[in-house]
Amino acid sequence: MQRIPVVMDVDTGVDDACALLLAAQHPELDLRAVTCVGGNTDVDQVTRNTLAVLDIAGRPEIPVARGAARPLIERAVHARHVHGDDGMGDLGWVQTDREPDRRHAVELLHNVLTTSPDPITLVPTAPMTNLALLARTYPDAMRGLGRIVFMGGAAHRGNATASAEFNVFHDPEATAIVLDAATEFGIPVTMYGLDVFYAPTVTRAQAKRLAASVSPATRLAGELVEFQCDRFESEQATIGDAGAVCVVADPEGVATTSLPVRVELAGTWSRGRTVVDVRDWSGDLAHDPHGRADAVIDVALEVDGPRYADLWLRTVGR
Ligand code: BDR
Ligand code: CA
Repeated sequence: MQRIPVVMDVDTGVDDACALLLAAQHPELDLRAVTCVGGNTDVDQVTRNTLAVLDIAGRPEIPVARGAARPLIERAVHARHVHGDDGMGDLGWVQTDREPDRRHAVELLHNVLTTSPDPITLVPTAPMTNLALLARTYPDAMRGLGRIVFMGGAAHRGNATASAEFNVFHDPEATAIVLDAATEFGIPVTMYGLDVFYAPTVTRAQAKRLAASVSPATRLAGELVEFQCDRFESEQATIGDAGAVCVVADPEGVATTSLPVRVELAGTWSRGRTVVDVRDWSGDLAHDPHGRADAVIDVALEVDGPRYADLWLRTVGR
């Protein structure tokens, strides 16, 4: 079996942890490296969290590098009100003796992308600051990418603002740079945004069963979902960023449409919005001064939620 080489860029984060547990343990995925960026919490905490999750998953050999502390232009904001003070639900799991890779995230990405014999699938589940820095520092390294599947954006509603999804809101310029570079190098991009993000859910009862396991990785997975059920006062919770990893492991579970996408970089109310152009391009669009966006990407508009939730449950419950 040919495993799919994957690199993740994360801001761990409760649901990034769910995504890492899946990517590190799925038998068909070959997680080669993980890079960290400030987002849900500060980059040092993100790095500790990521190391801890990979230790717990029994994958301490996967290199983890610290990256950008703040977005290209914006000041860093955080989402500790959603993810807890330690970014991992304050559940007491963040213990690691391991140091991150000595290289900056951009250097680690550059090394992995330029030395891999096979094209890498990049799965960013965080603001894309590290990836924009990579694209500008080492543009040729982008040739090492076979595909980008990112969690971010939305064709419809936002979450950080009415218009913008958190990861793109946090660093809109970075997303614009990455979409631009992907277009330049012909890299296929799939946007796993808020239109599908909430659909794969795990129930509190399923999470409780995981949390009772003897395996620490399975227990962590269960406790993360239970934390989210408590936090949102619900009997179920989304696997969130883990859905983007499911797209790589099981592409048939998602329906995408190839659409032009721009990132709103100005806007009074809409900075950070992914403007997904769903118009019928056969009509007369002569009055549009903008024309069609250069970046045409696969936007996930429907997902088989139970299928992805089941994939996650089976993998983290092994
Ligand atoms: C995204 O923002 C973060 O809170 C999550 O980890 C996810 O990547 C959802 O908008
Ligand atoms: Ca995230």
